[in-house]
Amino acid sequence: MKFHGHILRSGLWKSPERDLSSVLLDLNENQFLHEFLARFMATELKPRDLFTYPNYQPLLSELAKYCKVSTDSLLLTNGADQAIDLVIRSVFSPGDRVVVPSPVFSFYYQMLDVNGVAPVIVGFEKQAQRFVLPTEAVLEALQTCQGLILCNPNNPLGVRIDPEQLKALVETCVRQDKPMIVDECYFEYLQHSCLDTFNTARQLFVIRSFSKYFGLAGLRLGYVITRPESIRELMKVRGPWDVNHVAVKAALFCLQNREALQRAHDKLAQIKREIIEVCRANAIVVYESDTNFLLLQDQSDGRLANAFAQAKIRVSDCSQYPHSFGLLHNMLRVAIPASSDLKTFLMAILLGSGSTAASVAHLRSVEVILK
Ligand SMILES: Cc1ncc(COP(=O)(O)O)c(C=O)c1O
Repeated sequence: MKFHGHILRSGLWKSPERDLSSVLLDLNENQFLHEFLARFMATELKPRDLFTYPNYQPLLSELAKYCKVSTDSLLLTNGADQAIDLVIRSVFSPGDRVVVPSPVFSFYYQMLDVNGVAPVIVGFEKQAQRFVLPTEAVLEALQTCQGLILCNPNNPLGVRIDPEQLKALVETCVRQDKPMIVDECYFEYLQHSCLDTFNTARQLFVIRSFSKYFGLAGLRLGYVITRPESIRELMKVRGPWDVNHVAVKAALFCLQNREALQRAHDKLAQIKREIIEVCRANAIVVYESDTNFLLLQDQSDGRLANAFAQAKIRVSDCSQYPHSFGLLHNMLRVAIPASSDLKTFLMAILLGSGSTAASVAHLRSVEVILK
């Protein structure tokens, strides 16, 4: 017996341990939906939801309205991760080369590797305190590659791709008839999609998730949006019941109760602004982001990381992030904390900033936010 050579040669993408006694800000989960999800569990879940096979049609109808596409343009998946896996192995062949502007969500490299597809890395650039996609370099690389994977907005950088640049990239892929995957897992924080201009391009595969804005990371639900004839092919590869019924019901609940989600999002946006202000007042470099997380620059002695560790706050240290060209050296990626964790979070920021004068003004700002 023998495994495929490209699987044997690939690294292992291991899910990190989740220490539930900590404040978990390391995987960009939504911290703002406790009450909303408690209401879902109390009012919607029935024993039948566990012992029957799922019914997908109601969710597909609601999701089609939400995405402004037809139901046959949608494929539900077991998290966006499964969508990434399905599309990569369905449209690329061993030996293909695919442009991957980086750093980016590292699961793409894993799925390319196990399928024997080579990532062709084009590095983001840093211009004044902002990360920028070098479109010309991407277009040039594309000439000798069979496809493109983009993440918009980008994880871990947090930035969006300029709509004009995105349009130029989609147009090129369409013209050259090359598949283009656009991962829009953080779409709801940006409210701009390449579907706004290109919902009929057959080369385009948009991937989204219920893990972030909708807060259902534990239930594992994502989806692909593309042309119906491609959905038909992807359906042959996905298992018939890969998406569970509780996830389906929870997603329906989310889509039908969007005002509550919007209120949670407004709170997140407010807390995010306050954190940026406190960081800047304490000389911590923080990067603007179009997502539910922020990148903070630590000192070389890891002071901020230590302060978070002491406060039992889990964050993601991006220093070792693959293909990051030094852009993420000493960078910490943190999800926006819930109001209930904010005081601990800001105290860690003050401690980690090394400002000896943890001034009354700073502490007062903490109190203001907590009101
Ligand atoms: C850019 C990006 N794509 C995909 C995923 C995976 O999402 P899911 O939880 O739906 O599998 C994540 C999760 O962090 C992500 O950040």
